[in-house]
Amino acid sequence: MSMVYAGICCHAPGITSRPEIANQKDLASLLSQFDRLRDEIKTSRPDAIFLISAEHYANFFNNNMPTYAVGMANHYEGPIEDPEWLGIDRVNIPGDLDLSKKLISLLLHDIDVSYVEEWKFDHGMMVPLHHLTPDYDIPVIPSNINCQSPPFTPLSRSYEFGRALRKAFDNVPERIAIIGTGGTSHWPCTPDSGKINEVWDREFLGYWQENNRTAMTAYKDNEILTSAGQGAFEIRTSIAIAGAAGGKGDVYFYEPIPEFACGCLVASMQVK
Ligand SMILES: [Fe+2]
Repeated sequence: MSMVYAGICCHAPGITSRPEIANQKDLASLLSQFDRLRDEIKTSRPDAIFLISAEHYANFFNNNMPTYAVGMANHYEGPIEDPEWLGIDRVNIPGDLDLSKKLISLLLHDIDVSYVEEWKFDHGMMVPLHHLTPDYDIPVIPSNINCQSPPFTPLSRSYEFGRALRKAFDNVPERIAIIGTGGTSHWPCTPDSGKINEVWDREFLGYWQENNRTAMTAYKDNEILTSAGQGAFEIRTSIAIAGAAGGKGDVYFYEPIPEFACGCLVASMQVK
């Protein structure tokens, strides 16, 4: 078994761009749980972090939108946003070209992924990495699920993507930590930005903790849009982690932080 860790977290840009506007007690709790995840990842001694995000029209556009993409390079750059605005310096992030090639080749037996040789990470990757590997000393293999522009991959296929990843990880000797980053309910860049459906979020996270595949994949996109906003299409990243890990989840932190326009989340999942 070469999958050594699994977790999920939020990636709201406000966490680094305007931390002062949040309730400082909630912010401190959130940051302490990011630290916990960082320490657990380090303790698992990964050779690479496989980071599944849901990016926001930074690298992929509607002229050619991959449903599933995996990075295949020895380094990446980020953030693509103004570093001063995001509060994260522009850096080179190490990748692992050979491991990417091996994983992509294995994945293609089960799921048709695109590969990406140039990738400028947006806040969806940089906010988690800033907290989870602040020295950028662990190679990162980025991955993206299209959660921005319909038609989307079905939720059940996101779970299968996770299962395919696990199968691939189990066939390479490298130790891999997998992290998913995406939101639950939120309405970013709309007049409803700041609105959060905490009940919906806690229900989804309950299913996620149980690794209840049937319940997690039963949501319909039109219901998600109505109840949880277009930002909640990003639950595909968390569902993929559940498929990869196969165990039960443990939510370390979840609180609505309206100033960051989402419920903020940090959680791990048992690798089974
Ligand atoms: Fe996002």
